Amino acid sequence: MNSKIWLSSPHMGGNEQTYIKEAFDTNWIAPLGPNVSGFENDLESYLNQNVHVACLASGTSAIHLALVQLGVTIGDEVICQSMTFSASANPIKYQGANPIFVDSEIDTWNMCPIHLEAAIKDRVANGTKPKAIIIVHLYGMPAKISELRAIANKYEIPIVEDAAEALGSTYKGVKCGTFGDYSILSFNGNKIITTSGGGAMVCNTKEKKENTIFLATQARDQAPHYEHSQIGFNYRMSNICAGIGRGQMEVLDKHIALRQNMNVFYKNLFNDIDGINVFQEYNKDIVSNHWLSCIVFSDKAPFSKDEFYNKMLEDNIETRPLWKPMHLQPIFKNAPYYGAKVSETLFKNGLCLPSGSNLSDADRVRITNVVKNLI
Ligand SMILES: Cc1ncc(COP(=O)(O)O)c(C=O)c1O
Repeated sequence: MNSKIWLSSPHMGGNEQTYIKEAFDTNWIAPLGPNVSGFENDLESYLNQNVHVACLASGTSAIHLALVQLGVTIGDEVICQSMTFSASANPIKYQGANPIFVDSEIDTWNMCPIHLEAAIKDRVANGTKPKAIIIVHLYGMPAKISELRAIANKYEIPIVEDAAEALGSTYKGVKCGTFGDYSILSFNGNKIITTSGGGAMVCNTKEKKENTIFLATQARDQAPHYEHSQIGFNYRMSNICAGIGRGQMEVLDKHIALRQNMNVFYKNLFNDIDGINVFQEYNKDIVSNHWLSCIVFSDKAPFSKDEFYNKMLEDNIETRPLWKPMHLQPIFKNAPYYGAKVSETLFKNGLCLPSGSNLSDADRVRITNVVKNLI
């Protein structure tokens, strides 16, 4: 059996263990320490918009703390992009609130501004003005920020920007992860950089960062004993994981370029094949990190999505259907949905392809051969 080609596997830069060793040598084996603040500083300089970063245990916990700080509570409504990973939406339920799902538009596969405004108007007419809007940059592709921000401002609803997949992507030259009232990143094992598991909250004020850290470390009031006037969480990142993050920051730009090269590889591979389109930037305002490269099949394709999936599988090459929209998930079947069939059609016809920065020429030859043999 050929070795497995993954969609996206961890890719170490080389210095991660130096930072981990430092943590051991200095006995900073805790959810705080020099690597945590070092990683936060690295991310702040990288994002470069006067942002304040708090490293957390996961992207999911960051979304949860964003909703907590926005005052989302039992019975509230929160708008969320339907086509996404469930972790974008689950924290709404952690707060006892209700998700309202909105369809994607076809250019970026992210939240459709037209359906967003229709949803807000309808909820407001119902007497339930949404407390927040969770937007996502799927597969690293920046959403239509200007349009979404204009609507959010018009109705005075804060944005939680889920940039879990979009570290290094830019919108009009500005990095994703800096557009929200709260923005979040993920460093899960499959992301563009990883800390094995981890995430971050990106805040536009120092106070928000401090409050995020306060809530993430059990909400201890100032007192010699343990005093609590709010419910806290154990959501801080460990100093060991942050050491991996510091090493990964040294290779982030290089790894982004390698993922973007994978996208170019797929554009060339499918260029002459009618009916198979590689997902790419629809205009020059946006640059995707191409965390995952994706293709969409139409009826004109010479082979079907399922044939391709199975042939890749036979050669031990991982592909995966696009995110199944949340409004189609059994767990969210009763949630209101505003949209047409864009996300449903993408889910039906699309696949994610191996996209890691650690793929080799030999891996690319194997992928090319599967496509050639199918033709
Ligand atoms: C779009 C999106 N949102 C949120 C998350 C959650 O991040 P984490 O796995 O770090 O909790 C992920 C990835 O896992 C994601 O892809």
